[in-house]
Parts: sequence; structure tokens; C-alpha cells
Amino acid sequence: MKIKGNVHYVGVNDRTKALFESLWPLPNGVSYNSYLIDDGDTVALVDTVDVSFFEVYLKKIRSIIGDRKINYLIINHMEPDHSGAISLIKQYYPEIVLVGNKKTFDMVEGYYGVAGNRLVVNEGDALNLGHHNLRFYLVPMVHWPETMVTYDETEGILFSGDAFGCFGALNGGCVDRNINTDVYWDEMRRYYSNIVGKYGAPVQKALKKLGGLNITTICPTHGPVWEEQIPKVIDIYDRLSRYEGEEGVVIAYGTMYGNTAELAETIAEELSAQGIKNIIMHDVSHTHHSYILSDIFKYKGLIVGCTTYNTQLYPSMEALLSKIAGRDMKNRIMGYFGSFTWASAAVKKIGEYTEKLKFEVVGDPVEMKQSMSADNYVQAKELAKAMADRLKADRK
Ligand code: FEO
Repeated sequence: MKIKGNVHYVGVNDRTKALFESLWPLPNGVSYNSYLIDDGDTVALVDTVDVSFFEVYLKKIRSIIGDRKINYLIINHMEPDHSGAISLIKQYYPEIVLVGNKKTFDMVEGYYGVAGNRLVVNEGDALNLGHHNLRFYLVPMVHWPETMVTYDETEGILFSGDAFGCFGALNGGCVDRNINTDVYWDEMRRYYSNIVGKYGAPVQKALKKLGGLNITTICPTHGPVWEEQIPKVIDIYDRLSRYEGEEGVVIAYGTMYGNTAELAETIAEELSAQGIKNIIMHDVSHTHHSYILSDIFKYKGLIVGCTTYNTQLYPSMEALLSKIAGRDMKNRIMGYFGSFTWASAAVKKIGEYTEKLKFEVVGDPVEMKQSMSADNYVQAKELAKAMADRLKADRK
């Protein structure tokens, strides 16, 4: 598939992997995007694909350049979903020059033991292919320390690595103007919040660094190529990396026999009665945490609660709170509740997490013994009202 001029898409779709990074569900699959720049006498590949797709990948490359050689392999990102085919590419094209920065080559050696021709680039260095002039910008921690992006000054194409990527395989076309992109927006947020979510500050730094470029096309390593919807895509990444939330509340609860769920439902009903429209409820044992995290990245309010289990937090809630803490999220307003049968722990343990999370805590935590008491109904409504009042205070 041609992207623009002599720039081609040679990526592949993975529709069989169940869990990305063995962690995150892929209901719509995922694409590993690689691009080929064919300047006639000089050919460059930008990133590769997961090694298990090498045969089809090689076929795609040869359908464009036949038996001609590839001069350069530009390595924007070393995570193996993109670097996996480096070793085989090197076997098929032994004279190829690998292009990366110093940190790239530490990883090339560590992962693949590949030596040979290399071009080590620094911030702002250029590589001229004949027609295309490529310039390299380092964007560490978007998403690994070695990550860089490649800007094609000739066509205005940004080869952006994981930045601006999303889950979801490509169904036929790859450029946004040729496909229905509706399916990708929620998956972009879930991809960002699960994969890149911890690195908001580096993403902001990268957005500022790249802000001055005249970008006509964004070629990420996952999901569609963006042309028409570049402003929307940049806006999504900008808001997510600033941890900006919309008005709304995610209620995430862990329950075994329904009593703690009843407390969560009471809070939700009162939030609604108080005029909050966006209320998203998740049973932490039922919904995969990747979707809960994605919703927490979307909305400003968060209320969590669970039962006590073996004098500890309910395990599914412990796992969720640990994932939230691992993303260094900011700007969230949080309330919480818990329950127990004979020895209380949940409220205390969630309280300890609020100190780690550094979220703004609203209302008094509600603690329930065994089942909802008349007092618990009142306390649950008070907690909901405190959250609603705090959210409404931010209305312009
Ligand atoms: Fe798609 Fe960070 O690799």
C-alpha cells in the first residue's frame, strides 16, 4: 500500500494474539506498522514487525523492490513488536546499515547480538536518501529510553513510533481518509493509558519538540496512518498526557456476594441525582483492568471500594490500584469505601493507596459491616454528593 510518493506501508496485522505484552486484550487485533521509502538508488525501511510475521513481511517488501537491496533500516523503537525482525532482515540484507542512536545499539546488541554496519545518529541529525531527507529527533520514554522519531522533510511525514498509535488491526486500508476510523478512538485511549500512560511528562516534552514541524502525515507503529485527523489525534495525546479528565465518575468495586455492589449502586444513584451524567461502573473482577484504566484516564472522578479478603484488600482491587499507581496519574478526585465481615481492612488499605496516588480525596470513606445499614445509605449518599459538588465546582 502506498502512503505518499515513494513511501509504502509494509506492516502486518496480528489478529490472533490474545494479550498485547501478555497483559492487554486485543479484541480487534493489532497492527505492527513498518514503512519502506523507495528512492530508487537508495531504499530505507522504517522499523520492522513482530518476528512471527517475517515471511509475509519479506513478501511485502519484495513486492515493491524486487531483488534490489535495502540500504538502511531506521530503528525508531526497540520493543520487540517492532524490532523483532532485525536479525532476519540482517540475514537477508547483510549490507544493510542499521540507523539508531547510542541507546538503540545497546539494545540491538543485547536483544539480537547483531553487529556490522551502523549509523549512530544524534538529536537533529539528517540522512539524505536522494529524494527524501530524513531528520531524527530523540523522544526518550515515548515509550522506552531509546525511542526516537524520524521526520521526512521532503513529504512532511512523521514516523512517530508508538506515539499516536492505537490498538486495532487495519481492515483493508491504512490511511485515515480511506477508512472508517470510528473503531480506533476508544482503542487509542486504551492503548495510551495501558502502554504509554506512565510517561505523560515525556510525551508532553515530545509534543513540544515536534510542534514546530510541518507534519502532513503521521505514520505510527500501530493503527492507522493519520492525515485528515492529525489535529484530533494530537489533541487526544495532548489531553491524555496532561492527565486532563472530563466531568464524570468511574466507580470501580470488588464484591463477592453483592453487598459491596449495593453500596456502589447507591453511590451511583446519588451521583446521578446530583446531576452527574457520566457514571461508569466496573466490577473489578468482571471487566478487564485495561478498560477500567482507560475510563479512569477519561474521567476526572474516581470512586473505588471493595470487600476485605483474608484481612487484606480484595485481590482484584489490589491489582487495579497497583496498576493505577504504576501510571503516576495526576489531577484525579477520589472517594472510597470498603466492607468487612469480622475484621476491617479494605478502607484502611485503600486509604494507604490514596497517599501513594496523591489524588485529591473527597468525602468521608464509607465502611460497611456485612450488609448495608441505614447509616451506610446516608454515608454513601454523602460521599456521592461530596464528589458531585467537587466536580461541579470545576464547571466553567
Ligand atoms: Fe509497540 Fe513500545 O512498542
